[in-house]
Amino acid sequence: MSETIKIAIDGPSGSGKSTLAKGLAKELGYVYVDTGAIYRTVGLFAKRNSIDPHDEDALSARFSNIDISLKWEDGVQKIFLSDEDVSELIRTPEASMYASAVSALPKVRAFLLEMQRSFAKKSNVIMDGRDIGTVILPDAQVKIFMQAHPEERARRRMLELNAKGKNVTFEEVYADMCLRDKNDSTRDVAPCVPADDAVVFDNTGLDIPQTVEKALEIIKEKLS
Ligand code: DC
Repeated sequence: MSETIKIAIDGPSGSGKSTLAKGLAKELGYVYVDTGAIYRTVGLFAKRNSIDPHDEDALSARFSNIDISLKWEDGVQKIFLSDEDVSELIRTPEASMYASAVSALPKVRAFLLEMQRSFAKKSNVIMDGRDIGTVILPDAQVKIFMQAHPEERARRRMLELNAKGKNVTFEEVYADMCLRDKNDSTRDVAPCVPADDAVVFDNTGLDIPQTVEKALEIIKEKLS
């Protein structure tokens, strides 16, 4: 089999990486893998089983009971915990905090490493997360690290949650986001930082089509 093309999109929450990754996957016909959803699902498992999301030993003792799978419907990723579709359940602010806590545990990251790599072996992928370019796919042909001004990121996240009927204020989202940014970028394992060979792309002030267009230029240049 010829080598697959791997595009890594990393960056903090609200930087527009998942919107960009979805747009690019559609444009290029690649499979889109949202790795944050996988950490969120592990967080949901911890919550449901009354496991402290900071307790690495308690959580890792239950790894054999965590059965996560991804399916794609019309290019849209669905995530399952055992046979249950949890794609929507993992999107609450509480699930975000659980995900941030479990994602700081080295054993959780090691447990999820091969699963994430396996997607990139089968087909061309656009994978988004925090450590895709640094740890999961260090050999990705294209690595983009997304950034945007923190207030703009919080505003985007608030509008996204409001559109889903979740009643959150800007202040709440901003405070949550700052806390998660700090957890995600200062943790010892796989912190959210750009790979040495990543293109850092600040999309503050750009709308979605402009962001996709600029990213396509970066990809074209890297693949040529
Ligand atoms: O992208 P997101 O907000 O859905 O991610 C949820 C949490 O998972 C976030 O706090 C960071 C963490 N995460 C991670 O550590 N590594 C990834 N590759 C993806 C997400």
